[in-house]
Amino acid sequence: MYNARERYQMQESMAASGDDDMTELAISSLPLETRCPPYPLRQHGGFWFSEPFLPAVAAARARFEARTSDVLLASFPKSGTTWLKALAFATLHRTDNPTLSLDHPLRRRNPHDCVEFLEEAFASLSPEDSGGDVLAGLPSPRLLATHLPYTHLPKSVTAAEGTGCKIVYICRDPKDALVSKWLFTKKKLAFAAVDDNPPKPYPIDEMFELFCDGRCTCGPQWHHVLGYWEASRRQPEKVLFLRYEEMLRDPAGSVRKLAEFMGCAFSGEEEAAGVAEDVVELCSMDTLKNMEVNKNGTQNYVKNEAFFRKGVVGDWSNHMTPAMAARLDKIVEDALQGSGFAFGATAESA
Ligand code: A3P
Repeated sequence: MYNARERYQMQESMAASGDDDMTELAISSLPLETRCPPYPLRQHGGFWFSEPFLPAVAAARARFEARTSDVLLASFPKSGTTWLKALAFATLHRTDNPTLSLDHPLRRRNPHDCVEFLEEAFASLSPEDSGGDVLAGLPSPRLLATHLPYTHLPKSVTAAEGTGCKIVYICRDPKDALVSKWLFTKKKLAFAAVDDNPPKPYPIDEMFELFCDGRCTCGPQWHHVLGYWEASRRQPEKVLFLRYEEMLRDPAGSVRKLAEFMGCAFSGEEEAAGVAEDVVELCSMDTLKNMEVNKNGTQNYVKNEAFFRKGVVGDWSNHMTPAMAARLDKIVEDALQGSGFAFGATAESA
């Protein structure tokens, strides 16, 4: 009998050696989950993926050619991706886009329109397309994002030290990620609904049961986190592991860490001018939430405003019962046993 951690390690090696046959036939033979709206999920290499995105995942894995100057922002959905995109974009591109400029791209565009998801870029390919890397035309340094688990990243990204690219991961407490995802999914369903066919009620219990079983996009959440945490331990110069809760506690310190890791540390002059604090202010919940583009703009599947809700630690307690929380905590604790990783630990202690 294998414990949860051993099962995860077996799945990890399955994904690493697994084939990427994502033809309709191959996809239809993968385990199926239909209870997670809006898309059916399929399980591959121990993780669940939205079925329509699987061909793009395979294409990204096969075709994306990472550059050493690339920075890839990785996250489990609803863990602070939008915030990290804004912070990293404002920091990396601050020479071309001064933080205080009234014409800063983040004042005109949603962070998701400033930093593209790898798997979405490859989703625009037609099935017959036999071309190469659709992102090859972007100038360096490229800033990209992904929700893919570490095991499913393109090989060119995870290549040995000295090659591949840098990865910044943002981790969040699973209970807050779950609640954020549940509320966001309801907004997505409402956005997609048509007047004569409104979305059906979606109680949290439905998502909770599935989440606990790892059945959600890119789940199990704790295995997603663990894959990146372990990679950051093996190669700290290649993978930076950030925690949403710590970033909220010390946003300027986190931005400095991010800048240094991306190879663009703030100069003494910039420090004296308070540029790190300006980046924090530009990317703060209050600032972004109140920008016209984020109040009234849309992505093709949701209103931009849906990305900016509360942005606090512990909002799960307003939606989950203590019994639900204890059950999820126990599942996560059991699954992580022996890994050395714990949610809620500080960067120094874990
Ligand atoms: P809540 O729903 O708990 O409020 P993602 O960007 O990965 O989709 O994650 C969304 C979560 O990040 C939401 O959490 C959202 O409110 C929060 N968030 C978005 N922008 C933020 C910001 N500038 N600062 C802090 N949190 C932010």
